[in-house]
Amino acid sequence: MPQSQLIDGHPLLTGAVADSPLLAAYRGDVPSRRPVWFMRQAGRSLPEYRETRAGTDMLDACLTPELAAEITLQPVRRYGVDAAIFFSDIVVPLKLAGLEVSIQPGIGPVFARPIRTMADVEALPELDEDFIRALTPVAQAVALTTAQLGGTPLIGFAGAPFTLAAYMVEGKASRDHLGARRLMAEAPDVWAGLAAWVAEVSGWFLRTQVLAGASAVQLFDSWAGSLSTADYEKFCQAASARVFELVSDLPVPRVHFAANGAHLLAPMAATGATVMGVDYRLPLDEAVLEVGHLPLQGNINPAYLTAPWETLREHVDDVLMRGAHASGHVVNLGHGVPPDTDPDVLQRIVDHVHDAPVA
Ligand code: CP3
Repeated sequence: MPQSQLIDGHPLLTGAVADSPLLAAYRGDVPSRRPVWFMRQAGRSLPEYRETRAGTDMLDACLTPELAAEITLQPVRRYGVDAAIFFSDIVVPLKLAGLEVSIQPGIGPVFARPIRTMADVEALPELDEDFIRALTPVAQAVALTTAQLGGTPLIGFAGAPFTLAAYMVEGKASRDHLGARRLMAEAPDVWAGLAAWVAEVSGWFLRTQVLAGASAVQLFDSWAGSLSTADYEKFCQAASARVFELVSDLPVPRVHFAANGAHLLAPMAATGATVMGVDYRLPLDEAVLEVGHLPLQGNINPAYLTAPWETLREHVDDVLMRGAHASGHVVNLGHGVPPDTDPDVLQRIVDHVHDAPVA
């Protein structure tokens, strides 16, 4: 039987993360300082990442526990951010389930066989004990990471069914995910079968990370912003809720994020999220009007990272001020760190946020 308990020595059991500002804000309690981390904080913007990754394929790096742990720790060591996010990728569990997928630099995930018909869906690998066993390198990488993190919590993550299916239907990245959106309308039963399969894969990826040491989870539905609210509710909400359901018996905050997803905040919250990530387009005090019962995460505009410090500082102060309206606030970018970001700029943001008065 797959494991169902947090491992011995889990930071949530030892009390290592009991005073964590991140977890306090995620719970809606008053943190000891304003917490901050960055989506894609581990990656090409860091020279130490480029050195560690040199000559190693992205997915091989994700599946080599020592490498994944080292890369996860790099931004925590450098910046003193309030969370580590597990270094992996949303397609890693699809590969472990048996799909042929690679990550191509500058392009993203590429699948050997796109999934478009009921026959394609029926031919998807069975998700049995072999799949759970194949997730072992993920559990090992998480355990290695948390053993070195001390009081900084690790956030586990997964891709939401729509975002993953958007890649699987097209076989690769696409501008507005028309393939997946068409499939819902043309063949709702094929779509439902695909979304349900992906939900199990992502849910078990997430559960594996929590059992092995993660203290919070984030579900990335990066491309959901391309959906109408009605299509999200009809075709995607239940599958995303299933992903969260697979960790709902575990004591971890559940963060949900979509880029360009202002119109989806309420239906995304209704999947069982306990914290909402907000992208840079919607001011946090306006997000409070939509999902005011939940703590918020976000939403520094990545475009400001290259502006003069005074301009950026004013923008960060505006985010802090608006975020103080929420029942809890974790500072983050409104989407991932651009690869050409100067790490010293992120350091200044971290220091500035940590110096800010607690809301
Ligand atoms: O620091 C972190 O945030 C943790 C690591 C992380 C990665 N991918 C590492 C990565 C996370 C959380 C992801 C999630 C992910 N992957 C998402 C959702 C988040 C988002 O940004 O919206 C998506 C859509 C993907 C799919 C994907 N994987 C893309 C679009 C790319 C970029 C392709 C490129 O080269 O431009 C990847 C590859 C990837 N995932 C990299 C990293 C650090 C770059 C690989 C490299 O260094 O060559």
